[in-house]
Amino acid sequence: MPAAYEHIVILTGAGISAESGLDTFRDKNGIWSKYAIDEVATPQAFRRDPQKVHDFYNMRRRRVREAQPNAAHYALARLEEAHDGEVWVVTQNVDDLHERAGSRRLIHMHGEILKVRCPACGAVLHWEEDLTPETPCPACDTVGCLRPHIVWFGEMPFEMDAIERRLEECDLFVSIGTSGNVYPAAGFIQSVRRNGTAQTVELNLDPSLGEDLFTLKLYGPAGEVVPMFVERLLAGQV
Ligand code: APR
Repeated sequence: MPAAYEHIVILTGAGISAESGLDTFRDKNGIWSKYAIDEVATPQAFRRDPQKVHDFYNMRRRRVREAQPNAAHYALARLEEAHDGEVWVVTQNVDDLHERAGSRRLIHMHGEILKVRCPACGAVLHWEEDLTPETPCPACDTVGCLRPHIVWFGEMPFEMDAIERRLEECDLFVSIGTSGNVYPAAGFIQSVRRNGTAQTVELNLDPSLGEDLFTLKLYGPAGEVVPMFVERLLAGQV
């Protein structure tokens, strides 16, 4: 029997990694309650005080290396493996927990904290250690410009053309662990609704800003709600 859904797109945000011990951004005690975006997450901040920006991402990189995928990450990898149709995860997260859980069809639209980029030569390299303004680029030896391979505020997210194509063809759109505060990701639900008749699902701890735009909504910790949803989906009950 053909799968109920041929093209599934799953958008994830910080909430899916919360139970892995990684802070979200806008919850109480979230990252943006402790750090100012314009001091650590913009190109201007990096030009003004690169050490401060490196310290911020060095702390987050260390936390990601200590974290483990949780049941929600593993459930999405299982869905990709077990579902007859195509399953794509578009994540706003810069951790590698989806990869470590086994997801393969994955787009990191905000970049990856375990990679660095050299604006001088364009190299993008796997990187697990701390960075300082004195770290030379391993590819071209330039000092002082190596940066986290992260999309800062004011920069264009990655792979937007590919993401738009996936949203146009999807017949199931699932949003997990995101508050719906930051565009373009927050606008994906509107694109899906404009494009056609896809089923739309929000799985979150609390209703997001876009909650009214989803047809099915399940609230609770991702580690519980996502595995349950995936089993229902694989049983043809969604
Ligand atoms: N399970 C499911 N959802 C959770 C959990 C959990 N255990 N804990 C928190 N959440 C939900 C919150 O209810 C909230 O809706 O996850 C969402 C987290 O929202 P944000 O902190 O705003 O994170 P996110 O939506 O991913 O932010 C988007 O903003 O600062 C930028 O680049 C950053 O990618 C990030 C983007």
